[in-house]
Formats: sequence, C-alpha cells, structure tokens
Amino acid sequence: MGYSFKTNYVPALCSIAKDAGCYAEVVSEMEYALAKKIGFDKIIFNGPIKKEDTLILALDDHAIINLDSQYEVDSIIRYRELNPDKSVSIGIRLNIDLVGEDGMSKVQCGLRVGRFGFTPQMLKEIIPILNSHNIKIVSIHGHTSSSDRAVENYRIIVRQMLNVCDQFKLNDIQYFNVGGGFFGAAADGVNIEGKPKYKDYADCILGECGSSDWFNRISPSIVIEPGVSVTANVFSYISKIFQKKYIADKNFITTDGTVFDVKPTLHSNNLPHTFYTHKKSNDTYIADLVGSTCMEKDIILKDVEVPSSIDYGDFVKIDGVGSYTISLTPTFINYISPIVEIKDGNVFEVRKRQNINDIISLYSLR
Ligand SMILES: Cc1ncc(COP(=O)(O)O)c(C=O)c1O
Repeated sequence: MGYSFKTNYVPALCSIAKDAGCYAEVVSEMEYALAKKIGFDKIIFNGPIKKEDTLILALDDHAIINLDSQYEVDSIIRYRELNPDKSVSIGIRLNIDLVGEDGMSKVQCGLRVGRFGFTPQMLKEIIPILNSHNIKIVSIHGHTSSSDRAVENYRIIVRQMLNVCDQFKLNDIQYFNVGGGFFGAAADGVNIEGKPKYKDYADCILGECGSSDWFNRISPSIVIEPGVSVTANVFSYISKIFQKKYIADKNFITTDGTVFDVKPTLHSNNLPHTFYTHKKSNDTYIADLVGSTCMEKDIILKDVEVPSSIDYGDFVKIDGVGSYTISLTPTFINYISPIVEIKDGNVFEVRKRQNINDIISLYSLR
C-alpha cells in the first residue's frame, strides 16, 4: 500500500502510514523530499512532472517510479547510458480509457479523456526502446480519478492493465498498481448509504486478476494508493465565532476560519458540524456560517440551524476535513492555522501557528 501524500501530507499523519509499513506515494520533488525527511525508505514516485534530479535520486534510492511521458523515458535512457553497470527498473503509467457501459466517460469531472500515462498505442513505441536499453519494467500503474468512485471502474481499469501486460509480455512486473480513488472513511453524519466498501473493491480487483492467466503466472503484488478513503474522517476544523448579522432576511454568523481551509474546492455540500455555545438554548434559527476573508463566496456552511444563543466567543467544529484540504489551502489573507493531535488525553502541536517571520523569510525586503 502506498499512502497518497497529496491528499494530506501532515508529517504526523504520514508517520502513521510509515509505521504501518506503507510506501509513500509521491508526485513531485517537494513530496519526494518530504517523504525522505519523514523517514520513508519505501517510495512510489508518480506524477506528470519528474524533474531529472529527483528522477535520478529516485533511481538511486530504488524507488518504484511510474513513468508518465516521453521526456521521462528520455531521462531514464540518458541515465542508463551513463550508468551501464547499474540495473535500471521502472514502471509505466497506463492511460485508461474509462468509459462506462453507456458510452459515457467516467473520468473525474466528466472529462472526455484523462491526460495521464501512456496509451497502448504509445507503448508500442516506448516498450521496445526500454527493452533495447535493458531497462526492466517492474510496475504498471492504472490510477484513474473518477467522480463516482464506482466499483465497476476498477473492472475497466484492471482489465485494461491486464491486457497491456499480456499483449506486451510484461513478465517482469512485480507491482500491479491500481491507484486510489476509493470510497472509505467518512466523518459521522456523512451519508454513505449505498456507497461501496473496501471489500467490494477488493472482490472486484481480485476477481479480475484471479481470472487472468498472465496474472496467475506472474503473480505480482497488487498495490493500492488510497488517499480520501483513509483520511476523510481524520481531521476536524475549529474556529471561533466573531459576528452575527441580519441583512435582508438573511442571518450570517462569521468565524475567524474560512471555507478555503474547510473545502478549498468550494463544493456545495455542508459538512457535519457542531456548535459549542457558552449559553444553552433549545431554539435555533437558520444562518450561513461565513469566513473571515473578504470574499463573498467564503461560505463554510449554507442555511444551517444554529443555536439562538450563539454569540461572540462561541466555537464551531467542522468534521470530515482530512483530505485535499490542508494540502490545498491557499495562503490567503490569514496565517496558516496550527494543527493539534489529541492522543490519550494529551495534546501535541503537529503544526505550529504561522507567524510573520515565517512569511517574511520567503521574501526579500528591498
Ligand atoms: C496517482 C494517484 N494515486 C492516488 C491518488 C489518491 O486518490 P484518492 O484520494 O481519490 O484515493 C491520486 C489522487 O489524485 C493520484 O493521482
């Protein structure tokens, strides 16, 4: 299992994945360096842009490198020529044609085609070149982000991966990597009725693999790279109430937090939440919980029930903010928030509160 750093790379969280024996799944120079700092010695290096320095470092570290495009193949060949005595192994990412039975694309956001990896047509040119340079192909990677995270998508992904392995006789494959994109962890209060479970995905993937002669003969490890499905319920976001306003029949409650911390993709779902008020009240009214930036669209919760007694100094907790939030948060207007871990009744600061010196140290003053 590779833990997807991009989903949430808070080092304290990544260390849990490391201690559990996971690989770090990284997609950039920054993530690669971070994985090494955290102490991962098992790394899967994916992503569309692999700078040559980092690629060479990854080769020397014996990371599992899944190539995404031609310029990376060229870099690997240059390395091979400069290091004729070293054995060089790489992986390839396959561009999956993720189309449902109805002929509609299942790629994330309804995009007609995905842009990552090599199509089978491209592989016809690339695989002979890799073979002629004695570069071993030890990994095949089929991650394809979909919006519906459906089990059936994995049947399509796995079948296309198996076809390529069989067609191109990729008999050195050790890692059969289906990527991430699963449903799984969800905060209490999120409706997961009818959503797939880990076992549903496993049954589908193993079923397809088990009925392939190529797979049974070569017997590679199946690799998954979960992100959302293991982090979505891990973090909560707490902010303080500062203002209440009533304008044109609408109530606004303003906190010192921001939607850009809670859901930087600005999706429209209200996340599970709890208000903590100093004064008790049984009555509620409907309000928008809005953030501290100067954007009208900084709406954290839309038309939710708030306790009538809510006032300056109360708090609100938003759950389910563990994935694609902290790593996607812009440094917009506010300091980056501290993060604390609460474990066995003790509190650990796992990210400090940003201060002006942290900010200014990145810039030059004239
Ligand atoms: C290559 C790769 N692996 C794993 C993931 C994790 O996906 P998810 O968070 O949907 O599980 C992603 C996300 O985009 C990805 O690009």
